[in-house]
Amino acid sequence: MELDASNKLRVVREDLINHAKKHPLFLNVKKTSGHIVFGRGSDEAKVLFIGEAPGFTENETGKPFVGRSGKLLEEWVRELNLTQDDYAIMNVVPIIPLSQENKIRPPTPEEINYFLPQTMKMVNIINPKVIVLLGKSAARAFGKESMRVGERVNYEEKEMFFIYHPAYYLRNGRKGLEDLTNLKKILENKKDL
Ligand code: URA
Repeated sequence: MELDASNKLRVVREDLINHAKKHPLFLNVKKTSGHIVFGRGSDEAKVLFIGEAPGFTENETGKPFVGRSGKLLEEWVRELNLTQDDYAIMNVVPIIPLSQENKIRPPTPEEINYFLPQTMKMVNIINPKVIVLLGKSAARAFGKESMRVGERVNYEEKEMFFIYHPAYYLRNGRKGLEDLTNLKKILENKKDL
């Protein structure tokens, strides 16, 4: 019997836990008594937002984008008129990356690549119409480092859109709503899908 999207995702998440436990990053989960952080949102989302890796709040709660970046992302979701059923959020690395000084750092290309098989499986199961890459780490996972902010490209019969990571806008005292214009247009064209 063919599994539905949520059961398929459950299987990939179990695989992800085993895979994650074999990586040195898992020590960060142990030493902080934190969590491996999966995605959240609709299993059949039209729009999939893909970020970098959990921060401290996400590590503590086990949910992606629930800290300051998450608050801004929720503002973008409202600006785009998306309902709960329309979207999902995930990261390319499910474990908090920490420096020697226990500060947040971006994930390395090796860490992104290590989790790529599960990342791609989850993207394929959710099978969104639009993938929104939030910043360079997400772009790197898809080989799209050269995308510019607000740019869209075709990707396996989907639309792919690049915007800076919410943390970038927060650092610069901006909300980034003006950079969503092309994404709004894409969603307008896909309203009936
Ligand atoms: N930044 C990310 O990229 N992902 C999160 O889940 C939180 C902050």
